[in-house]
Amino acid sequence: MAKLLDIALSICVCIFISSASSLDQDRKVYIAYMGSLPEEQYSPSSHHSHIIKQIVDPSFASKALIRSYEKSFNGFAAYLSEEEKDKLTRISGIISVFPCQKSQLQTTRSWDFIGLLTTTERRISVESDIIIGVIDSGIWPESESFSDEGFGPIPTKWKGACDGGVNFVCNRKLIGARSFSVKGGEPSARDTVGHGTHTASIAAGNQVSGANYYGLANGIARGGVPSSRLAVYKVCEPECPDTNILSAFDHAIADGVDIITISISHHDPMELSFDAIAIGAFHAIERGILTVNSAGNNGPGLSSIRSYAPWILHVGASDTDRKIVAKMLLGNNLILAGNAINGFPSSDKALLPLVYGKEVTSTCSENDARKCLVNCLDRNLVEKKVVLCDESPELEFVKTTGALGCVYRDTRYNFSSITPLPSIALTTDSMNVVKDYKSSTTLSEALILKSEPIFNPRAPLVAPFSARGPSIFMPDILKPDVIAPGVEILAAFSPMASSSHDLLDKSATKFHIMSGTSMSCPHVAGVAAFIKSFHPEWSASAIKSAIMTTAWEFNASIYYEAEFAYGSGHIFPLKALNPGLVYETSIQDYLRIWCNVSQTRGGVIPINSTCPMMTPKDLNYPSMTYQVEIKKPFKVHFPRTVTNVGQPNSTYVAFVEGDLSNLLVSVEPNTLEFTTLNQQMNFVVTVTGNAMKGRTIKRMSLVWFDGSHRVRSPIVVYSLANTSDVETTQSRPS
Ligand SMILES: *[C@@H]1O[C@H](CO)[C@@H](O)[C@H](O)[C@H]1NC(C)=O
Ligand SMILES: *[C@@H]1O[C@H](CO)[C@@H](O)[C@H](O)[C@H]1NC(C)=O
Ligand SMILES: *[C@@H]1O[C@H](CO)[C@@H](O)[C@H](O)[C@H]1NC(C)=O
Ligand SMILES: *[C@@H]1O[C@H](CO)[C@@H](O)[C@H](O)[C@H]1NC(C)=O
Ligand SMILES: *[C@@H]1O[C@H](CO)[C@@H](O)[C@H](O)[C@H]1NC(C)=O
Ligand SMILES: *[C@@H]1O[C@H](CO)[C@@H](O)[C@H](O)[C@H]1NC(C)=O
Repeated sequence: MAKLLDIALSICVCIFISSASSLDQDRKVYIAYMGSLPEEQYSPSSHHSHIIKQIVDPSFASKALIRSYEKSFNGFAAYLSEEEKDKLTRISGIISVFPCQKSQLQTTRSWDFIGLLTTTERRISVESDIIIGVIDSGIWPESESFSDEGFGPIPTKWKGACDGGVNFVCNRKLIGARSFSVKGGEPSARDTVGHGTHTASIAAGNQVSGANYYGLANGIARGGVPSSRLAVYKVCEPECPDTNILSAFDHAIADGVDIITISISHHDPMELSFDAIAIGAFHAIERGILTVNSAGNNGPGLSSIRSYAPWILHVGASDTDRKIVAKMLLGNNLILAGNAINGFPSSDKALLPLVYGKEVTSTCSENDARKCLVNCLDRNLVEKKVVLCDESPELEFVKTTGALGCVYRDTRYNFSSITPLPSIALTTDSMNVVKDYKSSTTLSEALILKSEPIFNPRAPLVAPFSARGPSIFMPDILKPDVIAPGVEILAAFSPMASSSHDLLDKSATKFHIMSGTSMSCPHVAGVAAFIKSFHPEWSASAIKSAIMTTAWEFNASIYYEAEFAYGSGHIFPLKALNPGLVYETSIQDYLRIWCNVSQTRGGVIPINSTCPMMTPKDLNYPSMTYQVEIKKPFKVHFPRTVTNVGQPNSTYVAFVEGDLSNLLVSVEPNTLEFTTLNQQMNFVVTVTGNAMKGRTIKRMSLVWFDGSHRVRSPIVVYSLANTSDVETTQSRPS
């Protein structure tokens, strides 16, 4: 059962007060967002209490306020009735009021694969001054990946704290910890699900030799910037309420982190003033802190991406050249390959009887039993046998029946996951081979072998689960921004993480193999820190631009969704150190976009009624995207400004590459002559085209070239037939 961590968790409201009296039963947690903190002397929490007193029934007023956000931006969370919430929205100074939603959490070889080798030159002393804030499920502080051996003193700029709870000790590597999770009594930043430990070690874990999972994927486990420091903010339990996410941003910004990585995705897209991650990340970038966020795992449909704020770097997932495969041997000596990570050293012994789910039930219909639904398999008929299922079953359940193996069909995911018993996921074709064999003999037998790593020559391909753009809320900003390794990644893990893993040898759980955009996100956070260690003075948007304009281009003909699958392409850290030119975006322009989207989506305006606006395609973004109306000729301008960060005296010439049929593309001016560093120059790209049929994606690249730097921006003009297409398209890479 290939399961992504952020899938299959239910949505529910964030309830903090369990012993609510009848008076309180209709109350829910709402977040009131109030924008930036005022410059003058101001006490946010007393202002928040004052507001609460104005709107909440006096009998409850003292209990209503749950959180005050008062360090890096202004707002609070409170327990309110519908009526009180309505009153709150009318109070002056309140920008938005939204219900607290719960969002979901969404190696080694991977760093070599993207060109960051153990031998790559690094700026260790600057790197060790960089603090990465990880907003996730906490951390396992005792993991070797976070030992502080060889680390110097904590950077003096650090203003945070080690507040990880009982028996939680920080060190010079893991310099800060806070927990906002209120589940289970005493707050603790200790990771019990493994996700936060995994993502933190991908971004900045130490080099640990001999890391592996049961001998698979053996090698050196390491983060992108092993010398950087980590500060963790636990918000997930395992769901991640908005109240916690906002607290984490509020503190991380004030604590002095340099980069934030957050592998959490919302369930639904929402307007920016209601989006906790977008709000937190906006106040982060105001202070020069780049936020890197996972694109989400609900691909491959077009517009499956939930998050789109242009001040965030959104990361999709790709595979790497190492793939882990499972194999099975049938009684007729045929060997079939499929997906699964079977560590079990003892599984390769003898062939076992192979039984079909539908033959080994006494309680279920044939249709339920052939899928091996929970409680359908009879223990006495499957014990010590290998069971065949038509769909991905609950492997935990299959294991409890005493079966010693499970063979199932899985057409949904094409990657391997750790399983609690020897298993193999097969394609429909391979499944048919097994069924043909089974019906050809009365004594069918099978053996599931230990998994093995193989070379995957087609890599990188975008993972089917990786969420695709365009965002339905902001169709003219290309999302995701980039793609990074997110399939079968080995990294540190929490020994306390249970579920399917507690049945395994505990010693094997120090490292774990996971897949998801959650794993891609910290790769890019690590790369951002790597770039910052060479260019400490660069702005957050300059770092983002460097990562985007130097990305490897994908072969578009493989993907129906083209750039909406992979954005600017696959990260290439060494190139990103020296991009030549960068597209920098001002905070004022980000705000203008926010104002525009709020206005056009019927949302609320973040600043005040004079909120200036800008159309998203005009934002100084390192990619260019525009949705055209179908069956109408069009002409679209993309004004842009580039800043010279390469050689002082350099001349760049513009090239437009790609599918130019039925289009006219001009770049004005098409030569840029720089004489100094940090000099800025403007240009406009104009794309003129004939009427497009419904659902067309035209893609090109603008390349500025000076003889050594290739500064590439994708240009995408597209039409979608109608809105119902957006929801229903379920295309797959062909
Ligand atoms: C699964 O991925 C492997 C490696 O990328 C590839 O060779 C194979 O064709 C894929 N199978 C399917 C069904 O997509
Ligand atoms: C891109 O993929 C297509 C189809 O698979 C193939 O024919 C073409 O050669 C590829 N192009 C490059 C540059 O690899
Ligand atoms: C609105 O915001 C702008 C920019 O921050 C500021 O200059 C202006 O004074 C504000 N107007 C009001 C009415 O608060
Ligand atoms: C706001 O953005 C829309 C496109 O999303 C654009 O058509 C409109 O002109 C923009 N408004 C302003 C005032 O820039
Ligand atoms: C750049 O070119 C100008 C004029 O061509 C020259 O005066 C200047 O010294 C050059 N600067 C550098 C750093 O080469
Ligand atoms: C919208 O798309 C759906 C599905 O592709 C199609 O059935 C429908 O006719 C389209 N509607 C219009 C107005 O084009």
